[in-house]
Amino acid sequence: MKTLALFTWITFAISLPASVALAQPKTALQKADSVLRLMTLDEKIGQLHQLSSDFATGPITPDGDKQGQVRRGEMGSMLNLMGAARTRQLQEIAMQSRLKIPLLFGQDVIHGYRTTFPIPLAEAASWDIPAIEQSARIAAIEASAAGIHWTFAPMVDISRDPRWGRVMEGAGEDTYLGSVIAAARVKGFQGNAIGSINSVLACAKHFAAYGAAVGGRDYNSVDMSERMLWETYLPPFKAAIDAGAATFMNSFNDLNGVPATGNPLLQKDILKGKWQFKGFVVSDWGSIGEMINHGYSKDLKQAAEQSILAGNDMDMESRAYKNHLKQLLQEGKVPIARVNDAVRRILIKKFELGLFDDPFRFSDEAREKSQYDNPAHKAFARTMAAKSIVLLKNDTIAGKPLLPLHKQQTIALIGPLVQSQKDNLGFWSFDFEDDSVRIVSLYKGVQNKLGSNGKLLYAKGCNLNDTDTSGFAVAVATAMQADVVVMQVGEGRDWSGEAKSKSNIQLPAVQEASIKAIHRTGKPIVVLMSAGRPLIFNWTADNVPAVVYTWWLGIEAGNAMADVLFGDYNPSGKLPMSFPRTEGQIPIYYNYYNTGRPAQNDEHRFYVSAYTDLPNSPKFPFGYGLSYARFTYGDMQLSKTNLKGNEVLQVTVTVTNNSNTAGEEVAQLYIRDLVGSVVRPVKELKHFQKVMLQPGETKALTFVVSTNDLSFYNSQLQHTWEAGEFDIMIGGNSRDVQTKRIYWNK
Ligand code: GLC
Repeated sequence: MKTLALFTWITFAISLPASVALAQPKTALQKADSVLRLMTLDEKIGQLHQLSSDFATGPITPDGDKQGQVRRGEMGSMLNLMGAARTRQLQEIAMQSRLKIPLLFGQDVIHGYRTTFPIPLAEAASWDIPAIEQSARIAAIEASAAGIHWTFAPMVDISRDPRWGRVMEGAGEDTYLGSVIAAARVKGFQGNAIGSINSVLACAKHFAAYGAAVGGRDYNSVDMSERMLWETYLPPFKAAIDAGAATFMNSFNDLNGVPATGNPLLQKDILKGKWQFKGFVVSDWGSIGEMINHGYSKDLKQAAEQSILAGNDMDMESRAYKNHLKQLLQEGKVPIARVNDAVRRILIKKFELGLFDDPFRFSDEAREKSQYDNPAHKAFARTMAAKSIVLLKNDTIAGKPLLPLHKQQTIALIGPLVQSQKDNLGFWSFDFEDDSVRIVSLYKGVQNKLGSNGKLLYAKGCNLNDTDTSGFAVAVATAMQADVVVMQVGEGRDWSGEAKSKSNIQLPAVQEASIKAIHRTGKPIVVLMSAGRPLIFNWTADNVPAVVYTWWLGIEAGNAMADVLFGDYNPSGKLPMSFPRTEGQIPIYYNYYNTGRPAQNDEHRFYVSAYTDLPNSPKFPFGYGLSYARFTYGDMQLSKTNLKGNEVLQVTVTVTNNSNTAGEEVAQLYIRDLVGSVVRPVKELKHFQKVMLQPGETKALTFVVSTNDLSFYNSQLQHTWEAGEFDIMIGGNSRDVQTKRIYWNK
């Protein structure tokens, strides 16, 4: 009987053209199509339906039988389910479905999984692109070991408004820096190839312009010219695609009156049209259903129609697709081709991840354990944290800079964050059972540094944000016993982040009052400002001799802060956002337009574009950060001052370390287009180099400027450059630069 069957098969196979007879689905696309052909409509819609596990990161919608939906093939993805054991368990249920299509597990691994790294805004302050990529790489290794296939990161939203709590999640205000970092994070998460056991799918979010919410109020409207959208907010998303981002997430905001989730201009015309994005788009949490609140959809059914037709593929948590797509298809309002396209895009990623070959390959408890407390990961988290720290002020006292400290000093650590551990993790971080031993507080970090013979005093002084000053007396008495006081103040763990917009971003009054109380003792004070966003702390900045911006630095925070305090790491961070003097200055950013009446300086107010009660300049400018070393720049040398067409300009500048301390400097190159068919910013970051300089060392840095650096979106949305005069500027921040003018002709 067997022989006959075999003979029959051979006869059949020979009769087919060779290309078909031996054809095996080879590409993920072919494999996806082979599955698509077998799927029922319910199973197709199931692939577009994503629910959260019981650990919610958005408004809760009670749902019945999630496991039943998985078992019937009615759910294709789940978010917020972590751990090799738990993901394996649910995957086993998915394998009971008719077609055994594996589940995709997504998670907000924004700045580390088990090894919590500095928040993304802090990492952006490092301007160290390889380090930022490595941070994402380690996050992917640990997340993939915990059964996670897909991270909802990098968040690449440009923002010029620190009232918006989610600035902590991005790379700050600059499009060029944000684009370079977006690419690095995508590469870090996805590694050399999707499908590697150490890689996860990246997800560029939130598409688009979510960081421009009016008033810095989360989820608020966004209204801007399409030119501004292309010029400032879209480039980091394009950089993410060019780096291979597998998925996109759209955003809660409406953009020029059309919610992003249902916005065909964004998702169909730009993303999948002009940019030819082949991955898939997931909505944000419930954002399809929220189009009803927006007043764009009359009901969930219309929201489902608008969203799928606009190019959104997967529905996170709104149940719009599950409840209404079938009817919309039957009514002919949504073509099956669009549903097939969405399903195909998702299946392709599941094939690329190898989940059809082995649905459990990421759910390996032994491998998960092997990544727990990986010493190399922790060591790098400490290095990344130190690189992220920005030295804002370091006055000289008795002939020498107050920082770095030395171990013979008696040090008083004072402040509401000194002993805190979890406040150093910041928003979008995970809790683990052993956090109390894993997370290094400032107190623990300094204790580690000083060892048993250190003279270390401590007082809390005050709470984060109440009116209780009863701790001041003990704090003052403690300060009086010390040679120097180090205060760690700022924000609690979730004061910045999603749904954490604030109209007042001042350092809380009680904390400033505690600083003033210690200041009255006359003891030298170092203030470490830990926060998820730029804060306003003018009195402290003006009166305290040393101020260090320490963001939220992750599990190695205390060790990193101690490394900087005692000079074992020379701070090299530069601000990725402008720091306002008051909320009244917001939005504030360095690459502003000159206006017809520019203020020439901070005092100039007479009939110019300025406030009568405040300078225009920020408290601390974009790109600003000091070092324990002293860097000086030589005169910038230009290869030419008259250029033509596609020539390139070589800009060379020497940087010298005039100190006896090795240190890193971020040399920044800005360009100004003096006259354009649309007005151009007074300066734009176009290149930077972070270099290490030994004491006394001089390095010549060369930057290559091309016409691409001169290009912008004109009124016709063409990305082009225009002949004319340009200023080339170089310096260690966006304010203190040297300038030379060139002429570039077509
Ligand atoms: C949240 C966030 C988004 C996140 C998602 C899943 O509302 O806006 O960034 O990835 O829901 O947690």
